[in-house]
Amino acid sequence: MEEKGKTRRAHCLVLPYPSQGHVNPMLQFCKLLEHQGVRITLVTTRSYYNNLQKMPPSIALETISDGFDKGGVSEARGFTLYFKRFLEVGPETFAQLLEKLGGSEDDHVDCVVYDSSLPWALDVAKRFGVVGAAYFTQNMTVSNIYYHVHLGKLQVPLTDHEISLPAMPKLQHKDMPSFFFTYEQNQFMFDLVLNQFSNIDKADWIMCNIFYELEKEIVDWIKKIWPKFRTIGPNIPSFFLDKSDEDDQEYQITQFKSEDCMEWLDNKPKGSVVYVSFGSMFNLSEEQLQELASCLKECSSYNFLWVVKASEEIRLPKDFERKTEKVLVVTWCSQLKVLAHEAIGCFVTHSGWNSTLETLCLGVPTITIPYYSDQFTNAKLMTDVWKIGIRVPIDKNKIVRRQTLTDCIKEIMESEKGKEMKSNATQWKTLAAKATAEGGSSHENILEFVSSLLHS
Ligand code: UDX
Repeated sequence: MEEKGKTRRAHCLVLPYPSQGHVNPMLQFCKLLEHQGVRITLVTTRSYYNNLQKMPPSIALETISDGFDKGGVSEARGFTLYFKRFLEVGPETFAQLLEKLGGSEDDHVDCVVYDSSLPWALDVAKRFGVVGAAYFTQNMTVSNIYYHVHLGKLQVPLTDHEISLPAMPKLQHKDMPSFFFTYEQNQFMFDLVLNQFSNIDKADWIMCNIFYELEKEIVDWIKKIWPKFRTIGPNIPSFFLDKSDEDDQEYQITQFKSEDCMEWLDNKPKGSVVYVSFGSMFNLSEEQLQELASCLKECSSYNFLWVVKASEEIRLPKDFERKTEKVLVVTWCSQLKVLAHEAIGCFVTHSGWNSTLETLCLGVPTITIPYYSDQFTNAKLMTDVWKIGIRVPIDKNKIVRRQTLTDCIKEIMESEKGKEMKSNATQWKTLAAKATAEGGSSHENILEFVSSLLHS
């Protein structure tokens, strides 16, 4: 890209869906592109802008509107209206942004990397003659399930007990994303995940935050349909992967304030701590919190680091001590640093995709308690495909009881099967680091993408 004797850097606009689980991996992807010489502008909604104050200074920020500029989803009082307005207002304000940047020789945009859940961004990119790259923040097993509904090859409601899709493990109803069972109440959510594929055939690139070995059968299969599909993950800081960049540790753009737990962890024996956390979005019921509290209190053989979000704290039993020799409760922590700590023996997780990738990358076996969305499918992959965890049975009220959880923790921490899971997790950790290191599959795919921008 030559311009009057000097080289002009390719300029990418990156548009994540405005929530933590989408912004964080896409921001990490921005850092990787930037490292390869691409100029990045991250685009967010005016309502989400204030969450992005801790952005790396080299990444520029621009905003568009979701129709609720002051308060986003809470101003809309729910997702139904929010998604509707975002769809009405987002594309136009995104187009205005492209127009504004296109007016200047220096700022002219070469590529839009858009969150697959905002497919209208591709239509806007095409209107401006700009390269469009879809970025999937969920894994390909989950994407393939939705893709088959989009193609009309998987019916809703589900008719078969066992779901058989190409290049995938057989799935039972308990392994399917929750939207299959709630679509009547939450049609907008199901529409959102299905619409990801509405114009996917027009995308110049399709990227997914996984690495090849994790889902190789499905990657090989989908590449025959989408030749421009590439794995580019795991998009977590290199400090936690191949350690190629000691300074690359910052990750979280979040509204939560981390509490320090490193000193407490430093004083615990290797592999003795059970880390319990259920992500950023889901709040546990009072009954579930109380069962967990009892499990932690009664399970005296291990130590516990438990994230109870500020929004849940009020429902903890009044007499529950937040800091003892055995138990530490925090409202938020740096999860990557915690998972990387040698004191951690296992992770009790809701199986959100970011938590799942992080535990794989740091070699920590899991106990999975899925609650919502893709978490059920992620749990299936962790237990039956990657074999790094066990899924806790729930009772008829959908509650995990204290004794059931205690038994699962014991199994992971003490049994031969638990040791095997730890060893499998360690192997995934090695493969994740290899994929992102120089010469690795994800690294090579990113170089290919960047080189295509330079020559477009
Ligand atoms: C949501 C959905 O719940 C999930 O199904 C989907 O896969 C992604 O979007 P979320 O609840 O945010 O996810 O969970 P997850 O994807 O696991 O992300 C949580 C993030 O918060 C992780 O990156 C984790 O490292 C971070 N975290 C969590 C902290 O840094 N500290 C904490 O104390 C807890």
